[in-house]
Amino acid sequence: MSPTSSLTLIAQSAVMRELLEHVDTVSRSDSSVLLVGETGVGKELFAEYIHKKSTRESFPFVKVGLASLPAELLESELFGHEKGAYTGAGTEKKGLFELAEAGSIFLDDIDDFPVHLQSKLLRILESRELMRVGGTAPIPVNVRVICASKIDLKVLVDKNLFRSDLYYRINVVPIHIPPLRLRRDDIPLLITHFLHRFIPSHGVEVTDEAMQILRSYDWPGNIRELRNVVQRMAIFANGSITPKNLPSEIHSSSSLESILKACNKCLVEEKMSFEEVVHCLEMNLVKQALLKADGNRTQAAKILNLSPSTLRDKLKKFNLED
Ligand SMILES: Nc1ncnc2c1ncn2[C@@H]1O[C@H](COP(=O)(O)OP(=O)(O)O)[C@@H](O)[C@H]1O
Ligand SMILES: [Mg+2]
Repeated sequence: MSPTSSLTLIAQSAVMRELLEHVDTVSRSDSSVLLVGETGVGKELFAEYIHKKSTRESFPFVKVGLASLPAELLESELFGHEKGAYTGAGTEKKGLFELAEAGSIFLDDIDDFPVHLQSKLLRILESRELMRVGGTAPIPVNVRVICASKIDLKVLVDKNLFRSDLYYRINVVPIHIPPLRLRRDDIPLLITHFLHRFIPSHGVEVTDEAMQILRSYDWPGNIRELRNVVQRMAIFANGSITPKNLPSEIHSSSSLESILKACNKCLVEEKMSFEEVVHCLEMNLVKQALLKADGNRTQAAKILNLSPSTLRDKLKKFNLED
């Protein structure tokens, strides 16, 4: 466990301990970093850790969720705008890069970064200056760029969806964070850590049998899912957590199994058409992803590997909109 001022990063498994050592070295350098990993593996936490361990620690750490910023606002949010740059730009405004001056900027979901803005980001990395929207004079910037991606960016480069020159600039130090199912030794300590956080007053222990089930579950939503499950269990915990206290999706050994269970009715119902069975399977997949993402649609879309708009269409189709 490596606590920095307000941040705890659990790394008990051999693979994570080795990774953390590597990350400690990277933190001390000033190079760009690309964190790659599935949703919930800790990319944001690592980004903050790298900043806190760097010489930029006492300067700002600015987080930018690129997937959640509307495309039309993105450019002025990131790079700022001059007075009168467009209708409504009554005053000049500093962008997030300027606000991160001397510190680090965390560009989360860089795989969603629009192609038309990529040259502006490249310019910052290459010449350390930016141009505000509507600006005429370049402004110098001194910011360390830490990016995160849920997929291998090289795939996007090959499809011409990501500039290769930018890819090489941000990929100076790639750090792959493995999914939780490939480092199960972290699970017990993470559970204890979150239990302490959610029930700080009294000790709650997890029985061996319950821990065994928690260890063998695949955690498709990774540590974010584990944290949410522990939070839910903490509400009902009474001294100890037994298998009975575990949520149903953990009980059934795999996600596919629980979907099949939910779909069992239609699979045995012979009168259903092929389309109806597919409809039912699809609906349960969507429902399960929403459950895992705690109702967060952006997150659910990521779990399903769908674009947010495709998920929106499916929610409409299945009447799952609230
Ligand atoms: N190694 C870890 N130790 C403790 N908490 C962690 C660890 N990795 C992730 N978390 C926690 O899990 C949650 C999800 O992590 P996050 O960094 O947001 O993941 P990502 O950005 O990859 O989706 C956060 O609450 C984070 O603090
Ligand atoms: Mg994240």
